[in-house]
Amino acid sequence: MTHSHDTHHRAPGDAHGHQHGHGHQHGHGGHPDVDTMARVLDLDAAVNGHYLDEVAARIAARVNEPRTILDLGSGTGTGTLALARRFPASQIVALDNSAELLERVAGSARQAGLDGQIRTVAADLDTALPDEITDVDVVWASSTLHHFADAEGLLRSALQALRPGGVLAVIEIADPPTFLPAGSADGEMELRLRAAILGRGWNGGWNERPDWAPTITAAGFEIVETRDIDTDLDNPPAAATDYAVEWLSRVRSGLADVATTEDLAAVDRILSDDDPSSLRRRDDLVVRSSRIAWIARRPENS
Ligand SMILES: C[S@@+](CC[C@H](N)C(=O)[O-])C[C@H]1O[C@@H](n2cnc3c(N)ncnc32)[C@H](O)[C@@H]1O
Repeated sequence: MTHSHDTHHRAPGDAHGHQHGHGHQHGHGGHPDVDTMARVLDLDAAVNGHYLDEVAARIAARVNEPRTILDLGSGTGTGTLALARRFPASQIVALDNSAELLERVAGSARQAGLDGQIRTVAADLDTALPDEITDVDVVWASSTLHHFADAEGLLRSALQALRPGGVLAVIEIADPPTFLPAGSADGEMELRLRAAILGRGWNGGWNERPDWAPTITAAGFEIVETRDIDTDLDNPPAAATDYAVEWLSRVRSGLADVATTEDLAAVDRILSDDDPSSLRRRDDLVVRSSRIAWIARRPENS
């Protein structure tokens, strides 16, 4: 579904439960959090990864044969690899400030036989791109813009790195995932937990539906399409169980002062392995979530 919308700007929240903006984690190699983050990113792609193909298809509709694609904050490389597959004639530059995550990207690229297409570059993207990045056809920024101290400044430098007419794709999680059937007691509990988290700003940062449109426009881009991409899986892949456990464990750690004692006990019960209703034992998981993607272009005459 393609739509345009008119929302007030809110600072987008973190897709994966990490702190961001000033004081964010810089993900240096060896940080114990990197493993968890990598696991959540890979599970997210295994369960919700259809958005990668959908957004890549929207890019393909606007850029004929991209030669150079830039992945800003590439994480474990879920976007990098999807783009390399979709655009086999392209070179992809994966940029991140975590050497450890970049090693994972390089390893996955080798395993997939895509290493000839993928180059990793370690850089701090808080304010601007490294000068060496020029003549880019596509910039991809998935679940990542909210990490950077000056997203508008970074987008302005991305605009300069793009060829006129080049395309920017910004993606964020719009609705965080839920895993339990609607209408069940645990499903209701999960919705209450989600409301509690949305109400307080998830981990200090999750604030309802993100809206990057004003920032993208202020940086000089023209937004050509805004897209909602829903995940609605009644029979999710097996990875949904691990994803639910990881996700709800992170949610749980932020809930102590906002949820009722009963709801906290319920989430502990479904996270434990030894209750018949625990996530690892049940076979009725469903995955609902949504992403939002903004497709923008550098105006030809800019
Ligand atoms: C939530 S992950 C998203 C990863 C990937 N784009 C995806 O969609 O799976 C955010 C990424 O931004 C990176 N990051 C955070 N702050 C950064 C900074 N200042 N400079 C460069 N990368 C940064 C993190 O290391 C992490 O890989």
